[in-house]
Amino acid sequence: MGPDNRSCLLTLTITPETGRYWYTFQESNLVWIDRANITHQISDMKDIIEYHVGDVLSESISDRIPSREECSELMAQYSMLPNIVEHSIQVMRVSLAITDNLKSGVRVNRDMVVAAALLHDITKTRSLQTKEHHDVSGGELLRKIGFIRVAEIVEQHVFFRNLNLKGSLEEREIVYYADKRVMHDKIVTIQERVHDLVQRYGTVEEIRNKILKNMSIVPGIESKIDSFMKIDIQGAIQEISAVAPQAATRGDRRGSVHPDRKRSG
Ligand SMILES: [Fe+2]
Repeated sequence: MGPDNRSCLLTLTITPETGRYWYTFQESNLVWIDRANITHQISDMKDIIEYHVGDVLSESISDRIPSREECSELMAQYSMLPNIVEHSIQVMRVSLAITDNLKSGVRVNRDMVVAAALLHDITKTRSLQTKEHHDVSGGELLRKIGFIRVAEIVEQHVFFRNLNLKGSLEEREIVYYADKRVMHDKIVTIQERVHDLVQRYGTVEEIRNKILKNMSIVPGIESKIDSFMKIDIQGAIQEISAVAPQAATRGDRRGSVHPDRKRSG
């Protein structure tokens, strides 16, 4: 029996007041538990799983992709502002307009694209208070709870690393590009998005230049993506309605409206 067809049931019970927990375990179905107050316990859970079923299964768990429902739960758990939820859903829709119109034979993991698009701003809301770099902290968070490949996309959605315009199409390129085509929840041109970013964040010349330098790679990524698509990339994206996107699943619109609600994306 290989790692792909083994599963287990891990029931974890938390006492919030003390932070103590206990668990029951049996081979059956895997239950993944996402709650803010136990995030720091995930490494302990990993130890428990390793103890019972070994490293191989544990590795397959730690490298999996969250489902749509898990993404929605995480968005609610991290109190993502409604406008940032809407932005993220629109980024997902642009990402899927690309992914669902690729030439046959182009291998892209659709589930990974969906999860990374929905979660790319997972720590954005709290960053409005903490001033943390939400790309870095979002990646760290997702890596810590076991979504490693999604974390790698999230942590590069602001500053892309090791761009290879000659290589095969990568999920991180799709999500990075889609994010640059969505301003708040509206689909815009690259030029409009650059202008928006410079206006919002380019308060000093150094940052302004950094934004412009970073955005200068977008046309190259756009051409690369387009070359892998069976229809024109602009046509595919234009087919998406620019109206406010529907909530992905339950829980998407939880959370209060923040006074700084314009700062999505
Ligand atoms: Fe974004």
